[in-house]
Amino acid sequence: TWPEAGNIGGGGYMVIKLVDGRTAAIDYREVAPLAATRDMYLDANGKLTDKSIVGHLASGVPGAVAGMAQALERYGTMSLREVMQPAITLARDGFVVDSGLASSIRGSERVQQFEGGAMFFPNGQPLTTGARLVQPDLARTLQAIADQGPAGFYRGWVADSLVAEIKRGGGIITNDDLARYKPRERRPIRSTYRGFTLLAMPPSSSGGVTMTQSLNILETWPTTAPHGSTQWYHTVASAYQRAFVDRNSKLGDPDFISVPLEQLTSKTYAQSLRRTVRDERATPTRVVDSLMQAPIREPMNTTHYSVVDRFGNAVATTTTLNGSWGSGVWVRGAGFFMNNEMDDFAAQPGMPNMFGLVQGEQNAIQPGKRMLSAMSPTIVLDSAQQVLLVVGAAGGPTIITGTSQIVLNVLDHRMNLADAMRAPRLHHQALPDSLTIEIGGVAPAVQDSLRAMGWALRPLRSLVNVNAIMRVKGGWEGVPEPRRSGGAVGY
Ligand code: DON
Repeated sequence: TWPEAGNIGGGGYMVIKLVDGRTAAIDYREVAPLAATRDMYLDANGKLTDKSIVGHLASGVPGAVAGMAQALERYGTMSLREVMQPAITLARDGFVVDSGLASSIRGSERVQQFEGGAMFFPNGQPLTTGARLVQPDLARTLQAIADQGPAGFYRGWVADSLVAEIKRGGGIITNDDLARYKPRERRPIRSTYRGFTLLAMPPSSSGGVTMTQSLNILETWPTTAPHGSTQWYHTVASAYQRAFVDRNSKLGDPDFISVPLEQLTSKTYAQSLRRTVRDERATPTRVVDSLMQAPIREPMNTTHYSVVDRFGNAVATTTTLNGSWGSGVWVRGAGFFMNNEMDDFAAQPGMPNMFGLVQGEQNAIQPGKRMLSAMSPTIVLDSAQQVLLVVGAAGGPTIITGTSQIVLNVLDHRMNLADAMRAPRLHHQALPDSLTIEIGGVAPAVQDSLRAMGWALRPLRSLVNVNAIMRVKGGWEGVPEPRRSGGAVGY
């Protein structure tokens, strides 16, 4: 029911904590096709094109089906047929388009350029609120997966349709790419923050490392400044800024590069970074005027959901096509959109991607490599190692800062979950060297002080889409993002 975010044509990450003590991190990120090359998105003059964002070359090999199936097989209790039936029914019988989806369709020029146009713009007009969206091709695809497992997607007619669609537009994903795709099960990053334990996603996502590093730096201050104060913005932004400098230059797919995981997540290293923070002054990230191009502005769509069952087993998972409607390419006959995740690589190291992230060689394109992500599905345990918080977000690099602020709001500021979710947010990703704040969220006097300290403020209307569950007396409380249209359900 959220076609613009997929996600069988995309990928994601999952962190699991079971009541029997087992933990897991499943990496079902897309990989670069085997025919991918480092400079595939540069034109003849060496200039970066938009082909990593729009069209048939923009997709990595999808990982979602394989990853979800692996999670179910290793840790689940139901059959694939059972868990997929509700989705198959919604695709086959249709569902009513709500205002959020209608406005997303209206704004999606990209979809009209490709095969999905006919379905989402019948007679050239966008589907409107109240229309019924029936997706028979998608229902058949989901049924093939339910019947055959991942082979129903990675081999057979669905794979053939995907490859035919990609070929038609000059893309490079082959049947061989699909047949070889494998999710990776990794060890979650386990870190501590003021007596609590965090289980977070290791590379190929940067989420766990960068959150851990930010929290480790913040922990070096014995107490936390009041939420929303100048000092709070200064310390939190300084921590993010430093963690992102490392993220953007040192992280990438651990199957291809060596990631200094121990160092980056160590408390001693955080101490050394802390010493670079001046009390009353912002530190410029670098002099990088030439790189300070405005990021491409486009709506984005990723899905995060947090789940806890009646026994206390917890799952945090984030999936994405990257941009809204992914690459825009819709697989004819199989009924789904393809991702444009290739833009998460440094398509031209040193140049900003669509999130304005300036990344280095570690994240350059190589065949079979996973592009660095910011997705941060996270589970926080209390001092008795019981699940306290299940959290994660959509929003590109703001996923890391948004997710960690829910953790900070709950652990440092003792907020209940509703307040923690509503509280104004901030973001800093090293480059562009600006402190993003929420319009209406920061007192004018605090803004003046921050500017005087040297922070370049960048106000945004709404910052990052988080969904979280927290343990409360007698049960669980789920809070969807108050700035967007998610929901919380108890069964
Ligand atoms: O993996 C990443 O970091 C990005 N592809 C996530 C994109 C995203 O969250 C867009 N959404 N709102």
